[in-house]
Parts: sequence; C-alpha cells; structure tokens
Amino acid sequence: MPNKTYRIAASVLSADFARLGPEIRDVSEAGADWIHFDVMDNHYVPNLTFGPMVCEAVRPYTNQPIDVHLMVEPVDELALKFIHAGANIITFHPEASKHVDRTLSLIRDSGCHAGLVFNPATPLDWLTYTCNKIDLVLLMSVNPGFGGQHFLQSTFQKIRDCRAILDAYAEKTDRHISIEVDGGVKAANIAEVAAAGANIFVAGSAIFEAKSKEGYKQVIDSFRERLGRIA
Ligand code: DX5
Ligand code: ZN
Repeated sequence: MPNKTYRIAASVLSADFARLGPEIRDVSEAGADWIHFDVMDNHYVPNLTFGPMVCEAVRPYTNQPIDVHLMVEPVDELALKFIHAGANIITFHPEASKHVDRTLSLIRDSGCHAGLVFNPATPLDWLTYTCNKIDLVLLMSVNPGFGGQHFLQSTFQKIRDCRAILDAYAEKTDRHISIEVDGGVKAANIAEVAAAGANIFVAGSAIFEAKSKEGYKQVIDSFRERLGRIA
C-alpha cells in the first residue's frame, strides 16, 4: 500500500539567501512540512551552495525537519557534519559514494533518516540490496544543480516503477518507504506526481517566487488542495 502521508518540502535554494533564517521561519509558518536544503559542491554538480555551518545557523529558525539533499562527492564526512548541524533527513546520490551500504549505516546509526537520490538517467537497481537501510527514495525530476527547471515527463514512469518496487518490499516487510520527487513541481502537476505514487514533494521556485509569507502560504495551500482532489 502506498504511503499516503503527503509532505511539502520547501527547497530554500530559491529563497533570498541574504535573509535565509527569516525565509526558513516564514516558509515553516506558511505550512511547509520539511525544509529541503540543497547542498552542492561544484564537483558532483556544477553549482555551489551552502555547508553545515549554514545549516547550524538556520536550525533555530524552524521546528520542521531539515531534509538535506547532498549533491556532493565524497559523501560520508559531510553527511556526518550535517547530522551534527541539526539535519533530520539525509539523502545522497549513490554514485557519489564508494560504499553505499556503509554511508547508509553511518546516517541511520546517527539517528537520521536516510535516502538514496536517483538522477533522471540513473536506474533504480541500487534499490535491490538497500531497502532495509533506507527510509525514502528521492527521484530527481530535473538534472541536479539548479532550481527553476522544467519537470521531465519521463519521471512519471519512474515513480510508478519505484512505487512497484517499494510496494513489493512493503508486502514482505511491512516497512513503508516514501518517494520524494524533486524538480519542477508546481500546483499544475503535483496531483499527477502524487497519483504516480510519490508522497513527498519538493518545491523551490514555485513557493519562493511568491516573495512573501502570505504568498508562500497561498502556494502551499494550493498544493494541499490539489493533493486533496486525488485522495
Ligand atoms: C535541484 C535541487 C532542487 C531544486 C528544486 O538540483 O535539488 O531541490 O531546488 O527547485 P524547483 O522546485 O525550482 O525545480
Ligand atoms: Zn533537492
């Protein structure tokens, strides 16, 4: 049975970095369930964002879980630093870690939820021997590195394929692994993304282009309304 707990993860990549703390407070008060924190190292992806010190500095601005999406290589040392900085969920790209099982253990043994991230062209094969150590799968619906890109239509089939794998696993184990989708999610496509089998929705530009706390709330409310329609 699919995990029907829907969560909106606001990606602060599109926030005003000069006011990052207040932006995170505002989007949390506007109804974001998770704060999605895109960590880019200008090595694994062609862009550079923020590190664990920034995560630690903004941690007091929200009570919501901080969902750290590591687009870095190597992974382990930074994963640990983000855990110490107050992260609650850590996802990483398996091809960026030399020892994926070890990285997953490292994250979960530190009390965080762990997930694997799949780029648009990355097959789901990595799930074959990892489901017992993951809490969520993050499917990229754009190539990682930048906000504001268009949702790739091929993602819908991939969400369905992933859902089938995770449902089969849940049948056997009664462990329900979430599917998070990241990139180009808007009010116009969120219901279709949910219908394909996702239950966590990352949105950056769609939320932050609203430019005010009231605007963020309107966008997040419109997401929930669209999600309600498919329940
Ligand atoms: C891209 C990031 C995304 C990005 C999504 O590499 O992982 O989280 O912020 O931004 P939007 O919602 O604007 O596509
Ligand atoms: Zn992301």
